[in-house]
Amino acid sequence: MAASERNAFIIGTGSYLPEKVLTNADLEKMVDTSDEWITTRTGIKERRIAAPQEPTSLLASRAAQSALKDAGIGAEKIEMIIVGTFTGDMPMPATACLVQKNIGAPRAAAFDISAACSGFVYGLSVARSFVVSGSYDCILVIACEKLSSVTDWTDRDTCVLFGDGAGAAVVSSEGQGPRIIGDYLAADGSIYELLFMPGGGSLHPCSHDSVDQKLHFVKMLGSKVFKYAINSMVEAASTLIERHGLSAEDIRMLVPHQANMRIITEVGRHLGIPEERIHINVQKYGNMSAATTAVGMDEAIRSNDFTPGDKILVVAFGGGFTWGAVLLEW
Ligand code: UT7
Repeated sequence: MAASERNAFIIGTGSYLPEKVLTNADLEKMVDTSDEWITTRTGIKERRIAAPQEPTSLLASRAAQSALKDAGIGAEKIEMIIVGTFTGDMPMPATACLVQKNIGAPRAAAFDISAACSGFVYGLSVARSFVVSGSYDCILVIACEKLSSVTDWTDRDTCVLFGDGAGAAVVSSEGQGPRIIGDYLAADGSIYELLFMPGGGSLHPCSHDSVDQKLHFVKMLGSKVFKYAINSMVEAASTLIERHGLSAEDIRMLVPHQANMRIITEVGRHLGIPEERIHINVQKYGNMSAATTAVGMDEAIRSNDFTPGDKILVVAFGGGFTWGAVLLEW
């Protein structure tokens, strides 16, 4: 089949959320905060925290197994595994290689994508290109994060925001499910210091000093990031809407990155998409970085009766800065 005739379908999706729930009331006992502040400023009521014996690769593997089950295929069919994360089990090997081992996918090439909260959208876009080009037929895209392992639990500015979780999708040249019909990716490294994790790389290798300076935790200037998050997600979403000759009314469901309810509301308002057509889970899980859109897309697909022609727009923004969107048609 010629590359121009090939399609990339999402034939299965899945999620995994750790069992332990950390509520705002629990956080009130840990730092100087309140349920009232967290709820009104972020919309978050609770988040999930992975157990010490649950590394990111395990969260990812469970989400992957759920997506494979949904797709009705075995892991041996998977030819490539792409993982979006910045909290992998270790710097080397890639978490994707550990997933390959865990789920039993010996044929699969495996690599990680470092695009922070945009990792799922970046991963879907890369998978789509490989599938449409004809190089691969069946790719597993996973977004997973154990943010609790890089959170400073004494810093109220950040610790109330994050949670752990994983979501996955099987992208295939053939099968039932929504087709990826468009994608858009962008980045701006010039302002990376508004949201980053400085320690553990070649610039600040792990040392007593790097630990003392708390360089291994996520740092964020939240109020500055806020405005970029809205503008970037609106730009990505409206670019795809216009490129495909659509209007906001044509988007049956928007699945945005879940960092803050106020950001989600503003993105919907700018785009002209009302809240009943926006998938929202920030109240249950907080900000799970790349996993937010993966879990959100899985939940949206499972809980709606989409009919042929329905469009789903997945849009994300995160550290880097990176941002992007993927347009699906049922
Ligand atoms: O996922 C990647 C992208 N990330 C984002 O998109 C996050 C974007 N940013 C945000 O969501 C918001 O900026 C935050 C939720 C992080 C913060 O909300 P904000 O309305 O921008 O608050 P702020 O940082 O301007 O802080 C307002 C006040 C400060 O007190 P003063 O200086 O006004 O006296 C903070 O010290 O709220 C205080 N504050 C808190 N108070 C109680 C900050 N964190 C807390 C807290 N509990 N947990």
